[in-house]
Amino acid sequence: MEERIVTNYKIKEDNFEKTIRPDSLDEYIGQTEAKGNLEVFIKASKLREEVLDHVLLYGPPGLGKTTLAHIIANELERNIKTASGPSIEKSGDLAAVLSTLEPGDVLFIDEIHRMPRFIEEILYPAMEDFTLDIIIGSDGQSRSLKIDLPPFTLIGSTTRAGDLSSPLRDRFGIVLKLQYYTEEELYKIVKRTSRVLNCEISDDAALELAKRSRGTPRIANRLFKRVRDFAMVEGDGHIDLAICKDSLARLGVDNLGLDNTDYNLLESIINKFNGGPVGIDALASSIGEEATTIEDVYEPFLLQLGLLKRTSRGRMVTEMAYKHLNIKVEDGLF
Ligand SMILES: Nc1ncnc2c1ncn2[C@@H]1O[C@H](COP(=O)(O)OP(=O)(O)OP(=O)(O)O)[C@@H](O)[C@H]1O
Ligand SMILES: [Mg+2]
Repeated sequence: MEERIVTNYKIKEDNFEKTIRPDSLDEYIGQTEAKGNLEVFIKASKLREEVLDHVLLYGPPGLGKTTLAHIIANELERNIKTASGPSIEKSGDLAAVLSTLEPGDVLFIDEIHRMPRFIEEILYPAMEDFTLDIIIGSDGQSRSLKIDLPPFTLIGSTTRAGDLSSPLRDRFGIVLKLQYYTEEELYKIVKRTSRVLNCEISDDAALELAKRSRGTPRIANRLFKRVRDFAMVEGDGHIDLAICKDSLARLGVDNLGLDNTDYNLLESIINKFNGGPVGIDALASSIGEEATTIEDVYEPFLLQLGLLKRTSRGRMVTEMAYKHLNIKVEDGLF
């Protein structure tokens, strides 16, 4: 897949993210509900001197799950150890991670939905009773061994809560869904990034960036960095509204944060299917993409914006999409 400047998935140029990550709840902007709840649970667990319940964070890429996991560990004043679902292939891999845990540690498993089912089953007793049941030896000679683990907090992160088996989901005491950010929140994030990177941006330019960042801090920060390049090379380094608009136009990002890929999808539905409804498979083959790519990558933001609708008969563009694309609506269509 061609790399999009507005993708919410992490790309190589996002590697600077670590340096601008907020590290306390106070600095973590937005997600008011999740933050408020966490604050209470963290305080309570400290008062009781017990480990925090296991936490499941879910939501689209780039909304701050990894960031929040690190913040939770910081606020608990505990060490964090990290692993990722796809890298845990054998039961020994998980056992190795679990056996390094010290009392009170936070274990962060990213992309936890991609852990094989048979490995999930090792996690159940570890989460419930802090025990590790492993089988050693093979075939006729095998025996099972129970090892006590210290109390720890598991933080799982996933973009697809639906892909998690329900026994695993049920073992998380705290389940937090991250939401797309509002323009005001993204504005604050852009302003914060500007302070951290020591590169000035005017208020109106910051708001413009916020509007085009698809509700996603990762995109806001990425666009900020690109616009900063234009400001440095073609201006005096200071980001104002004119430089901001001009560079975003040159990057192919429109005033709602849409790029070519979005236009392509919406225009296909309008031109080839008279605005829909069209089934996901027919749509996928008409634009030469996988149905799952449309569902996971292309359409969530269009749905969120209200340019696209999902109906029982398939995807449909809305009147707003015609307006945004400047295409005349046939009489009686809406
Ligand atoms: N609430 C926030 N306040 C300020 N910055 C944020 C916030 N949330 C995320 N960010 C910024 O966005 C970047 C991306 O966030 P993060 O890596 O935590 O997303 P993620 O949800 O883990 O994504 P993925 O699903 O791809 O793993 C971070 O580097 C951070 O700088
Ligand atoms: Mg992450």
